[in-house]
Amino acid sequence: MANKMMIVLVALMVVVAVNVVDGQKVCNISRTEFDACLPAMTDPDPALPSQECCENIHNANLPCMCSYKDSYLATTILSVDTKLAMELPPKCGLVLPSPC
Ligand SMILES: *[C@@H]1O[C@H](CO)[C@@H](O)[C@H](O)[C@H]1NC(C)=O
Repeated sequence: MANKMMIVLVALMVVVAVNVVDGQKVCNISRTEFDACLPAMTDPDPALPSQECCENIHNANLPCMCSYKDSYLATTILSVDTKLAMELPPKCGLVLPSPC
């Protein structure tokens, strides 16, 4: 029973992950675009986001990112630490929507 559930979940995640890798965007930001931000999202002691990273964050849909901040899926599929990801917009001079 539990195993079947797991398989369905994994299959779903693979489908979504493939879509993301295929160039689809989550909150108007693609995995590739997030790559530019990886040094700034690495714990401990994340670097300051690069200009390229900030440009990508500027294009991102921030309210959407807010809704993903506690998302296990975002963490898994984008392999992004959402807690660190949410620290990026302020570092790029952007204001997060409130409440976020
Ligand atoms: C989405 O990102 C592209 C650049 O990657 C940008 O030109 C566009 O304005 C963005 N769309 C929204 C709704 O922010």
